[in-house]
Amino acid sequence: MYRGDQIEAGATSDVFAAPKRPYTRALLSAVPQLGSAGEGGPRPFPIIDMETGLALPVPSRADTVDTSGPPLLEVEKLSGRFEIRSPYTRMVQARVHAVENVSFSLARGETLAIVGESGCGKSTTGRLLAGLNSPHSGSIRINGNEVKSFRRADLSRQVQMIFQDPFASLNPRLTVENAIAEPLLIHGLETPRNARKLARDLLGEVGLSADMGSRYPHEFSGGQRQRICIARALALEPGLIIADEAVSALDVSVKAQVVNLMLDLQERLKLGFLFISHDMAVVERISHRVAVMYLGEIVETGPREAVFSNPQHPYTRRLLSAVPVPDPSRRRLRRKLTIGELKSPIRNKDFNPPARTYQEVSPGHVVQVWSGDWS
Ligand SMILES: Nc1ncnc2c1ncn2[C@@H]1O[C@H](COP(=O)(O)OP(=O)(O)O)[C@@H](O)[C@H]1O
Ligand SMILES: [Mg+2]
Repeated sequence: MYRGDQIEAGATSDVFAAPKRPYTRALLSAVPQLGSAGEGGPRPFPIIDMETGLALPVPSRADTVDTSGPPLLEVEKLSGRFEIRSPYTRMVQARVHAVENVSFSLARGETLAIVGESGCGKSTTGRLLAGLNSPHSGSIRINGNEVKSFRRADLSRQVQMIFQDPFASLNPRLTVENAIAEPLLIHGLETPRNARKLARDLLGEVGLSADMGSRYPHEFSGGQRQRICIARALALEPGLIIADEAVSALDVSVKAQVVNLMLDLQERLKLGFLFISHDMAVVERISHRVAVMYLGEIVETGPREAVFSNPQHPYTRRLLSAVPVPDPSRRRLRRKLTIGELKSPIRNKDFNPPARTYQEVSPGHVVQVWSGDWS
């Protein structure tokens, strides 16, 4: 359907194989597909003109990764745990080892994607970095400075998070310009008048218009609301943005546009992104490097192309083979969909995480050496 009218109908296989109307073609080509990102760094999605069905030219992208000086983010042997206590004695009975011995670094202007199934510890990693959870052990450095020594306010000026549900992240009673201005006022950085002016400028930065500032969140679509959350995250001019499933819930064509906006902002503002997602096709487009998490640990990491075209760890292989393909003619090809039950990260209180060894298979492409029960 397009603008209230049925414009095309037919057998599923015909519509998918040979869409007749430009709009149908545009819709189908907007679905992110694995293996379409080509080589090199991030690649914006082609935007398809819904009227003509033609792809608009994708602007070329400058190299954004800046490796001079200390890295934007350095994470070393980071662990995050949750205690499970007896309701009677309040004694610790067990612990959730949500994040275990995780190490990686991120340069200014670089995107590292963290992928893996639900429950593998992606969000906890993001929350530890944003200071929303406290680490059990390990170190986090931003621009060479240990985060433990930061005051809360200093950390939020350098690291901001964007979440999956923009509606839940916005106060329904604040106009969007007040919502975007709020962090500037909380930190006492601007007068209310200047903060609102900056908020309207930020609306322009994220592809909305300044005069939308006086409206309320419910007056916007999901994609626009996510743009508003991005604008608010940018208000404090952080160097690092952690996007936790930030585009996962958006409609395909809107998802492509928000991903392109993030790439555009990265190029203009030299932002570093930690892009948490279970959507491998989007990750393939947006990231420079990928880290694959399983049961709280990183089992494989490397340049995006190396991990996608030459996955080494059995878990990475299963993850990639489970990516859905939008093609009904392949529906009956039974792929090995089950990754098996994700084992539980709940361990008894005396558990000591095993020491791990890693192997570098090509420059920067590092794989955890695995045991026999994966075969
Ligand atoms: N506040 C919490 N208390 C106890 N366990 C938690 C808490 N938050 C997350 N967990 C557990 O930690 C593990 C990792 O969760 P999470 O980081 O949310 O994974 P992901 O984002 O990859 O889905 C899961 O087993 C989850 O149940
Ligand atoms: Mg999560």
